[in-house]
Amino acid sequence: MKHSEHYPHYISYRGRKQRPSVLAQHFPLPSLEAGEVYYPENPLLTGTFTSEKQHQLFGAAQFTLFLNDTIFVEHKLVVPAIVGLRELPFSLPQTPTLDLFKTATDEMFHAEQSLAYMNALEDHFHLPTFSGQSAPLFIRKLYQQIKSEKDPLLQQLLPVINGIVTETRISLELGEFAKNTLLSNTVRDICRTHAIDEVVHASQFKALAEWLWFEANQQLREQLARLLVSSAIARSLPDMEAIIKAYAQATGRSYEDASQVVRSKYDEDVLIEQMLVAAHPTFSFLKKLGVTDHISVEEAVERERSALHIQLNKTLYSFPIGQA
Ligand SMILES: [Fe+2]
Ligand SMILES: [Fe+2]
Repeated sequence: MKHSEHYPHYISYRGRKQRPSVLAQHFPLPSLEAGEVYYPENPLLTGTFTSEKQHQLFGAAQFTLFLNDTIFVEHKLVVPAIVGLRELPFSLPQTPTLDLFKTATDEMFHAEQSLAYMNALEDHFHLPTFSGQSAPLFIRKLYQQIKSEKDPLLQQLLPVINGIVTETRISLELGEFAKNTLLSNTVRDICRTHAIDEVVHASQFKALAEWLWFEANQQLREQLARLLVSSAIARSLPDMEAIIKAYAQATGRSYEDASQVVRSKYDEDVLIEQMLVAAHPTFSFLKKLGVTDHISVEEAVERERSALHIQLNKTLYSFPIGQA
């Protein structure tokens, strides 16, 4: 591998004269008022709720899922991406490596902050805790991808790829929550401070991706392109099994009844559309990087749509979705 003396520019706390949120030790908690709104309305399911209480409970359940996903992202995607950097056969310069180590510290704080809010919601609404339950769909899919990769270098690079993919979308996703004036101030607060840190992280991971891409030869770029696109799709596909669980919790319906309602609203086209919205910032970045010179995102998305169509039609109540 050739050594690059030039590392891409990126945003740092130093450059911004900003302090990471971990130093504030601020733990926003739900106010638990009767009308507190925890999650943006789901237009596909809103008409099926029979009371405002069900609506609020579904929002609370969805936000606990979001926080649960956040904890998994921090612990299982971003921190492992940083931990593995020094073992790669590339000489990553000292300063960006140190800045990425700072990011690992931020992420552990975000996980703690998320857990505190999640615990308060679970306790108040008597929501089943996620402890001991299987990991979210995207974690299962991304870890499966690592497990089935035969090439040792690619297996080593996959956690970094997953870090790049997730960090290019999270600041915008959190920013949407922070901007949404229909949501509770406590939801907006926890998402706002997290989003501010994530702007720094996104910039760091984009620089890391550019640097790796520059260091890679043509053959490795082909492989990186394939893995970046498949990770981007896997990271952003909605977890229908989780939505069904949240719906069952909110409405008191059985899991089978809840599956029937949710599945009647979500087909492969809805899942792909929502995936494309969530992955949009990642795909825009990958396009700028040059990934689309090596792989067609459209063809990869259509393959995923066909696979989902087969899975969804195979058996109506076959779960978990996405593990076929
Ligand atoms: Fe984070
Ligand atoms: Fe992050």
